[in-house]
Formats: sequence, structure tokens, C-alpha cells
Amino acid sequence: MIESMNKKVCVVTGASSGLGRATSIILAKKGAKLVLADRDNKGGEETLNLVISAGTEAVFQKTDVSKSGDVQALVQKTLDTFGRLDCAVNNAGIEGERNKIGDFSEAGWNQIIGINLTGVFLCMKYEIPALIASGGGSIVNIGSTASISGVATMPAYVAAKHGVLGMTRTVAMDYGADNIRVNAVLPGSFRTPMSERLYGNDNIEDVVKSITPLNRLGSAEECAEAVVWLCSDQSSWVSGAGLSVDGGRLSGQIIPGGVMPK
Ligand SMILES: NC(=O)c1ccc[n+]([C@@H]2O[C@H](COP(=O)([O-])OP(=O)(O)OC[C@H]3O[C@@H](n4cnc5c(N)ncnc54)[C@H](O)[C@@H]3O)[C@@H](O)[C@H]2O)c1
Repeated sequence: MIESMNKKVCVVTGASSGLGRATSIILAKKGAKLVLADRDNKGGEETLNLVISAGTEAVFQKTDVSKSGDVQALVQKTLDTFGRLDCAVNNAGIEGERNKIGDFSEAGWNQIIGINLTGVFLCMKYEIPALIASGGGSIVNIGSTASISGVATMPAYVAAKHGVLGMTRTVAMDYGADNIRVNAVLPGSFRTPMSERLYGNDNIEDVVKSITPLNRLGSAEECAEAVVWLCSDQSSWVSGAGLSVDGGRLSGQIIPGGVMPK
């Protein structure tokens, strides 16, 4: 096995579930030391056991990414535990309320923006000084296909995810000279607790297949591999990118009733 993340210290937010857990496990298998962050303790302890079983050193820090004090404590915990920070995967997010904008509650809007957009801002704000002190590093923000496309009934989620891509590009410009690369991964649909809530547990396979040129549901590990590549030195000349990991879904439109060629 190539340990492309050998001894790099990585923070992963939203590590208790779904794509964050899959990313943490692959980072661990590739040799990274991990600081797992999430507001969910139980899932966090499960991920912690999984990454320690994969052979790495790791700690879990209960964190609400929408709270500045929690994010500052997360970075401090990283420095206290491992003495440096090399990579950050800012992945925590929620789908939140679904409504047309005229019916969208202000509380629902503020909750989604607070976690999915302000959360990524706070993470980068407090991670960057630690990355600079370590000589540079890599940030991977988790956007969505909703970073470049609308999604009916999800205006706050789409606004936040567009914002994540815009911030990613801007921060990549501002900190390139500090040897910090900043990229976004834009996942399509994977089977996670979030997508099961959105699509319904029984429907997800068929719905995603019907809108995906590669004609299947991708695995969380297939998304995580792209995230880990962007964390690693193997992507050393990639910064400011928004990488779609979606089985080709954003490559064009599918006319209803149309069949994709075999
Ligand atoms: N699953 C998909 O198909 C898909 C598609 C596009 C984008 N995404 C994005 O990928 C990321 C992960 O999604 P997932 O599908 O794994 O979802 P998930 O619900 O399985 O996991 C999200 C994790 O984030 C944590 N979290 C939520 N709010 C938090 C907060 N305020 N502070 C700290 N942790 C918090 C949750 O506790 C959970 O462990 C999200 O940003 C999501 O928008 C997922």
C-alpha cells in the first residue's frame, strides 16, 4: 500500500457519519493521523474505533462547526495532540428544511447557512494559522453538485454550497503564497444517512441511476478517494478547483424519457 498521507495530521469535520466517516477511514489506511470532529458523540466514537482499527493514531473532539468557540477548541486540540496541522476536510453539513423560498422559514435558512456556509468559514479561519505554522497544507471543502446547479425546494442548501465553492476559490488565491492549497469536492449522490433522508431509503438506487451517466449509485469510498487525493501531495499543483465526483451527472441534461446510450 502506498501511504500517501504518511504521518500527515488531518482534521475531518462531520466524521461521525456518511462521507466524513468514509474519508476518515481511507485517510487512516493511507497513514494520516486524525482529529475527528462532529456534534454527534456516538457516531464519532464509532468512527474513532474504525480508524484506530485501521492502524492510525486519532482523537475525537465534539464540535459544532457553527460555533466559533468549538472550532477554535478543535484546532487547539489538534495542536495539543499532534503539534501540527497538515490537512483539513471541512465536510460537516445538513440538508435541513425543504421548501420553496416563499414558504422557507427564517430559522431554517439561518440553520442551514450557519452550518453549511458559516461553518466552513469558521473552520478555514481557524485552521489556516495552524496550517501556516506547519509550513502549508491542503484544505478540502465539501460542496455538492448544488455548488453549481440549483435544486428545487433547497434554496438555502444551494446558496450555502455555491458559497462554499466561491469561498474555496477566493481562499485559494489569498493563501497560495503560504503554500496552502484549497479545493472543493462536489459530490453527486451517495448512500448516506443524509441522502436516505432526502431520497427515501428504498428509492435512492433507482433515482440516482436514472440521472447518472455511469448508471449506478457510487459508493461513499469513491467520493472519499477523491477527497484524500486532494489532501495528498499527489495533487500538489491543484488549487482553487471544484471537482465533481458524481458519475458524470453534471456533464449535461437528461431529457425525460430519453435513454442514455449503452
Ligand atoms: N451524501 C450525498 O449524497 C451528498 C451529496 C452532496 C453533498 N454532500 C455533502 O457531504 C457532506 C457530508 O454529507 P453526508 O451525506 O455524509 O451526511 P450525513 O448526514 O451522513 O453526515 C453529516 C455529518 O455531519 C455532522 N454534522 C451536522 N451538523 C454539524 C455541525 N453543526 N457540527 C458538526 N457536525 C455536524 C452530522 O452529525 C453527521 O455526522 C455534507 O456537507 C453534504 O452536504 C453529500
